[in-house]
Amino acid sequence: MTKKYKRTLVTSALPYANGPVHIGHMAGVYIPADIYVRYLRLKGEDVLFIGGSDEHGVPITIRAKKENTTPQAIVDKYHEIIKKSFEDFGISFDVYSRTSSDIHKKTASDFFKKLYDKGEFEEQTSEQYYDEEAQMFLADRYIMGECPRCGNPDAYGDQCESCGSSLNPTDLINPRSTISGSAPVMRETKHWYLPLDKHEAWLRQWILEDHKEWKSNVYGQCKSWLDTGLHPRAVSRDLDWGVPIPLPEAKGKVLYVWFDAPIGYISNTIELLPDSWETWWKSEDTKLVHFIGKDNIVFHCIVFPAMLKADGSYILPENVPANEFLNLEGDKISTSRNWAVWLHEYLEDFPGKSDVLRYVLTANAPETKDNDFTWKDFQARNNNELVAIFGNFVNRALVLTQKYFDNKVPACGELTDYDKETIAEFKNVKETIENYLGNYRFRDALKEAMNLARIGNKYLADTEPWKLAKTDMERVATILNLSLQITANLAIAFEPFLPDSSKKILQFLNTNNFGWHQLGNTALLPAGHQLGEASLLFEKIEDETIEKQVQKLLDTKKANAEEEVKIETAPQKANIEFDDFGKIDIRVGTILECQKVPKTDKLLQFLIDDGMKKRTIISGIAAFYNPEELVGKQVCFIANLAPRKLRGILSEGMILSAENSDGSLALIQPIKEVKPGSQVG
Ligand code: 2FM
Ligand code: ZN
Repeated sequence: MTKKYKRTLVTSALPYANGPVHIGHMAGVYIPADIYVRYLRLKGEDVLFIGGSDEHGVPITIRAKKENTTPQAIVDKYHEIIKKSFEDFGISFDVYSRTSSDIHKKTASDFFKKLYDKGEFEEQTSEQYYDEEAQMFLADRYIMGECPRCGNPDAYGDQCESCGSSLNPTDLINPRSTISGSAPVMRETKHWYLPLDKHEAWLRQWILEDHKEWKSNVYGQCKSWLDTGLHPRAVSRDLDWGVPIPLPEAKGKVLYVWFDAPIGYISNTIELLPDSWETWWKSEDTKLVHFIGKDNIVFHCIVFPAMLKADGSYILPENVPANEFLNLEGDKISTSRNWAVWLHEYLEDFPGKSDVLRYVLTANAPETKDNDFTWKDFQARNNNELVAIFGNFVNRALVLTQKYFDNKVPACGELTDYDKETIAEFKNVKETIENYLGNYRFRDALKEAMNLARIGNKYLADTEPWKLAKTDMERVATILNLSLQITANLAIAFEPFLPDSSKKILQFLNTNNFGWHQLGNTALLPAGHQLGEASLLFEKIEDETIEKQVQKLLDTKKANAEEEVKIETAPQKANIEFDDFGKIDIRVGTILECQKVPKTDKLLQFLIDDGMKKRTIISGIAAFYNPEELVGKQVCFIANLAPRKLRGILSEGMILSAENSDGSLALIQPIKEVKPGSQVG
């Protein structure tokens, strides 16, 4: 039997405040959560929608270092950008706060302390890398070194981005601190661990037996974690950015970001409802639902529930409808590679079109598998669905009423069988959409809502009231009455999905909000009701506009490719002392003669005037220059490199050249002629 709940508490993952939000975040988490919440509100249910920024964690400190600023400045900046994007897209949070707030710090700190006092943690001392120069323990991301698997010299302590291997900092060959560049040493440190192994039994029962209805991607991931066996997880870190551990012996230690972030849901509720928050978090008749992306599943289905259970006074989530990932034009969305459609940029390019993106991202949501966003699909869905079906129907109903009935709802006459069939099609829609939404199937629910617009569009196309206007105005009145009732229904059905468009329709109809229970009712507008002023609900998006967006992505690809070439450039060698540099005698010489070394493809033999004498140097540059074109030119060469024999010829030095990204070589030449033998330095 399904449990009866009195209220629903909806949370959506707190995004890291180290960058703006993009379409992947929206499709995966915020749009589905918002649809769900709007639907419940429209039904008149008691619902609370909690959001906020996740402002702790190492990536934020790294970003701050990179930008030469403080972590607080970083989160202040991005919190505002993210918050505004959510507002602009109509994500209707009841509260959107942040984990750097005082309320959060206190809530998270108290949460830890209660568990500590109850003896819910285990203390463990382990050895971790410590930077003696910077006098700090190093988070995994602050340690780099050679990957033991692929030899990449710049692998991180937790992952090699070249071969994708997951690493431990101790796996790295020649580890170095990214803070000071020095080699870190091992030092003992104490941390507090949540013994997940002790929670395994009830978690197995609760998820694998009692929540078989969870989405298969969520259930499957949980099962695999549980089957592998759970282990204690550290909830503290040696870091100076985060919520300090409230214990005297924990100086310089903070809560691990994944311990404090989900508590952010609670602190943000406290901030909104300081007196009644416990009703939302501690009553068995509250239904708690977490909307998240697939990378957050273990934290919301295993770790956070274990924390809540360890406290003992909280309810557990009833469902965690996590989505998979959205790709962009076939490639994984990546903040660092700027491979994303950023919400704030979208709205600059498509002002007033937040609903179009909401529509496309819902229609194409990665609910059961990863999905792809393409600009072509965006255009097609806008032009062929929103404009050609939904907008076209609403516009025709309104314009015809204006033309024939002075913009007033005409009276409904006798219904034909076809009218009745059309009305009958409406009857089931409410239940169908409810079923889908109740099961977190937002794509299907949207399809069903769109189907209403399709029915309307077909009804007008089939009945052709514009043709009947000359002969049968009574029939025209009925057709338009019914069309306007359908339009009003569309305002209800689409409110959760496309709130702006729904509001526009209500303005066109000059009417107040309807309730969800009125969906399917085809007598919403009384005859004689004066309509408002109509305009287009959606506009066609032209090819050029889409081409611009595609070009923007191509530019990003190009920039990334150039960046990669730069990254491929040999890493800078270790620093040397000035004296070491002074040992190299680089000079300018004039090429007197140049010829290919017989029986080789690569080597040229140079005769050079070095200011004192003529010297022979062999250089592997034959593939890039004709010997004749070089005679008379000046080049730079190392004069004191120990002579060595190449192909039987004694080479007395080395001619300097630069290696281009494609592997070609370019000789280094002074940009104005100098006396042969001039020193370079
Ligand atoms: O993956 C993320 O973006 C995390 N900041 C989500 C945190 S969700 C919750 F625990 F706050
Ligand atoms: Zn590697």
